[in-house]
Amino acid sequence: MTRTLSGIQPSGNFHIGNYFGMIDQMVKAQESEEVFAFIANYHAMTSVYDGARLAAQTKEAAIAFISLGIDVDRACFWVQSHVKEVLELYWILSQHTPMGLLERAHSYKDKLARGFAAAHGLFSYPVLMAADILLFGTDIVPVGKDQIQHVEIARDIAIKFNNACGDLLRLPNYRVGESVAIVPGIDGAKMSKSYDNTIEIFTDRKSLDKRIKQIVTAPVALESPKEWRGDTVYQLCALFLDEAGQAALQARYEKGGEGHGHFKAYLADLITAHFAAARARYDTLKTDDAEVERLLAIGAKKAERVAAERMAQIRTAVGII
Ligand code: ADP
Ligand code: TRP
Repeated sequence: MTRTLSGIQPSGNFHIGNYFGMIDQMVKAQESEEVFAFIANYHAMTSVYDGARLAAQTKEAAIAFISLGIDVDRACFWVQSHVKEVLELYWILSQHTPMGLLERAHSYKDKLARGFAAAHGLFSYPVLMAADILLFGTDIVPVGKDQIQHVEIARDIAIKFNNACGDLLRLPNYRVGESVAIVPGIDGAKMSKSYDNTIEIFTDRKSLDKRIKQIVTAPVALESPKEWRGDTVYQLCALFLDEAGQAALQARYEKGGEGHGHFKAYLADLITAHFAAARARYDTLKTDDAEVERLLAIGAKKAERVAAERMAQIRTAVGII
């Protein structure tokens, strides 16, 4: 069976871009693939320095992911730091990672341009990500477009390692959900917490309405036909609609007589309805620490078993006694 793995950083509340770019892909993959999903709290350390905040956000992210449909019995779902082997593999892989490979990483260059300090942790971030991917014998990594290069780097590192130490690491491929490759934010640019343009999944209805009102739209008279192509409200609605629903919404745009206010209200309804069941689970788990711990312990145990077996082979190959 295909082994599908992806991680998400607990560096802020999950938004609709995270959902369609990654979380939903992982939840759907549970039907037919062997799913490994984790909260990348070691990676989040590159941007979150406040320990109490990191701990709270890690728990929040785990609750959100479980509420959105990751099933701890079917999938393997854990917190990255619960399986320490990943740090050991990170060091081993570092010996097979050319500096030039990391120097070419867009994500690192973007972060420097945005004012991050050029710390070693940030620079070597893709090596830890490679360790995540390679430790679990991953075939497929579902990600948004921005993470493609990191998966390619993992593949390059695996090839180098295999050449030097024997064929122990499976070569991963990325998978980008085509229709949702980039979810736009309220300003029309890529939705990202770094751009403060997100629509959060678990926000209350009042804040949701307020946020959606801020979506930038072209000024057109109420009675005139509207362009749905390239319209951010339309694009966001389309994520929640099947083909017939999309066609019906396109007809409403083209007919005229409705303004962006109507389409925005429709978007808020679509979001609320889509996440209603997840929301109920989320509210319950938020008040049940023991249950959250129980669920995370199941995943940690499963992931640990897979990691320990592969690490034993890798240690032997590289000569760590
Ligand atoms: P952010 O850009 O908000 O910091 P992350 O970089 O933590 O989000 O992304 C977590 C996951 O969600 C990754 O797999 C990423 O590719 C995906 N993702 C984030 N934003 C979007 C978006 N706007 N469209 C599609 N996928 C996204
Ligand atoms: N770098 C990813 C992101 O920011 C998170 C991540 C860490 C990840 N390790 C991974 C994704 C392994 C896929 C596979 O979105």
